[in-house]
Amino acid sequence: MRVCVIGTGYVGLVTGICLADIGNNVICVDVDKEKIRRLKKGIIPIYEPGLKEMVERNLSKKRVSFITEISEGVENSEIIFIAVGTPSRKNGEANLSYVESVARSVAKAMDGYRVIVEKSTVPVHTGEWVRRTVKLNNIHGVDFDVVSNPEFLREGSAISDFMHPDRIVIGVESEKARKIIAKLYQPLNVPIVVTDIKSAEIIKHASNSYLALKISYINSVANICERVGADVEKVAEGMGLDKRTGKSFLRAGIGYGGSCFPKDVSAFVKIAEEAGYDFEMLKSVESVNRMQREDLVKKIKQAMWVMNNKTIGILGLSFKPNTDDMREAPSIDIIN
Ligand SMILES: NC(=O)c1ccc[n+]([C@@H]2O[C@H](COP(=O)([O-])OP(=O)(O)OC[C@H]3O[C@@H](n4cnc5c(N)ncnc54)[C@H](O)[C@@H]3O)[C@@H](O)[C@H]2O)c1
Repeated sequence: MRVCVIGTGYVGLVTGICLADIGNNVICVDVDKEKIRRLKKGIIPIYEPGLKEMVERNLSKKRVSFITEISEGVENSEIIFIAVGTPSRKNGEANLSYVESVARSVAKAMDGYRVIVEKSTVPVHTGEWVRRTVKLNNIHGVDFDVVSNPEFLREGSAISDFMHPDRIVIGVESEKARKIIAKLYQPLNVPIVVTDIKSAEIIKHASNSYLALKISYINSVANICERVGADVEKVAEGMGLDKRTGKSFLRAGIGYGGSCFPKDVSAFVKIAEEAGYDFEMLKSVESVNRMQREDLVKKIKQAMWVMNNKTIGILGLSFKPNTDDMREAPSIDIIN
């Protein structure tokens, strides 16, 4: 199938390359001219295990190309993925200006039916706004569908997560678009959850917030363990072997960071607020997470007595292993 992926960051680049690797013709678009110039030569802008080899393979087989013009990508593709950033605004809500700008450019370039897929993590109702924006700028008056297809890959194991996901979520309101997206993902042979667009959008924020909640939960348990002399690692093992609880995300530590959990949790709090619901539980998740960093600094002070003129070595700067992503890494707050 002919696919265009707009935004070649952690998600867009991995999505584009993996879709090319399973046999599609993919055009990756980014506004960052330097990034595209380097990608054309097979130089990868991020560290992600296995990605370089995959880009080289698909470049040499001519299944992927890298360009800077959205119009060229849209004219030559039937499916358009929007995978640009949706960073937090100061008040916690998602900044959708990149998504809006892309939706306008896509609309102007469409010369026939297209499926426009939200891959970026966006708040509920964004699908409606994208549809409205595309309709307003649809200068050729062509048919189109909007689909929500949130991404669940993790940096550090992004390729394997994309190729072998636990599930694929498709939020869709037309049978034609559902069939097209289901066909695209068919080679992955994994369960597909088909839903309406709003539910798909909520699934992404609810999933990330739930994982963040597990982290803050075990960190709270760790704080009790420390006070009473229990071993949180053993407690987590004892809890995690229960299938209802599960082992993952029960590692106590300095809390979550990275480009997703902090922004997605605060966006979900904001989404709830706008819907008239005070998501108190998630606000506690955020405050526990903040406290973990502060507590670590207190512990360092306690261990060192006087900190002046002492040199401190920090091992591990990115927010987790196997990535070079420093966005919202707890190390930055702790070092500061
Ligand atoms: N990073 C992750 O692990 C992860 C996982 C799941 C979902 N997501 C979501 O996916 C989205 C993208 O995240 P990311 O980490 O890949 O972001 P990123 O910042 O790494 O990449 C975004 C890219 O979009 C490009 N861009 C911005 N405006 C553009 C425009 N108008 N036209 C073309 N390109 C444009 C930027 O130059 C950049 O290269 C976010 O909504 C994020 O929440 C991220």
